Amino acid sequence: SIQVPVLAIDGPTASGKGTVASRVATRLGWHFLDSGSIYRLVSMQALTEGVPFDDAERLVVIARQLNVAFEGEEVRLHGEDVKEALRREEVGNGASKLAAIPAVREALLTRQKDFRQAPGLVADGRDMGTVVFPDAFLKIFLTASPEARAERRHKQLIDKGLSANLERLVLDLRERDARDMNRAVAPLKPSADAVLLDTTSMTADQAVEFVLDRLRERGVSAG
Ligand code: CDP
Ligand code: CDP
Repeated sequence: SIQVPVLAIDGPTASGKGTVASRVATRLGWHFLDSGSIYRLVSMQALTEGVPFDDAERLVVIARQLNVAFEGEEVRLHGEDVKEALRREEVGNGASKLAAIPAVREALLTRQKDFRQAPGLVADGRDMGTVVFPDAFLKIFLTASPEARAERRHKQLIDKGLSANLERLVLDLRERDARDMNRAVAPLKPSADAVLLDTTSMTADQAVEFVLDRLRERGVSAG
């Protein structure tokens, strides 16, 4: 059978995956999966229920029962719009902890694969090209220096009127990188067939153009 095409974009936190993937998806008119938000939803629900981030059994139950709907820009968890709350650093750090549990990842696999729908899917995360969509026709791995990534996060938080401490962000980001790269299952690493892009001194628009060029080389044009 002819499989729906997938463009996989992986990389560490604040490398620009989400921004680049959603803009490319819009340009192509394809579906978009922000897989990190699924891990963040489990984290949020665990915080609500007071479930510790190392309680594999209860976290798997949460992962299986997650009642989530992605409606345009909104993300609804058990009916409530949680798009803004999902971005909290506390939620992201919890997501990174529970994402190290193999049974939790397993419980979220089908949910992610279900996003693969015609005419195509752009998926971003840590293991899109390695585990979830190994047959993606194009895999991009974005990186940027820890300092550049911490500055991007800092700016995002300040722009939203939230307080942020740059030094704290650099420390958290290094800790999260280490946890994501060193876990036994689906660690953060480029697939052997991924195209690497270091965006340290690039704008988000330049990174988008880079990806569109790689698509054109493969005969996919983005209007
Ligand atoms: O999804 P990920 O955590 O990798 O990053 P993001 O949420 O897309 O955040 C990246 C932030 O850095 C956004 O505010 C972008 O506008 C900005 N940025 C970027 O994405 N790419 C660059 N090359 C430069 C800045
Ligand atoms: O936006 P940011 O890159 O900070 O985080 P995210 O993409 O929303 O993901 C939050 C956490 O979920 C990450 O630190 C990963 O540990 C985990 N995650 C994962 O393990 N696999 C994915 N495909 C996506 C996220």
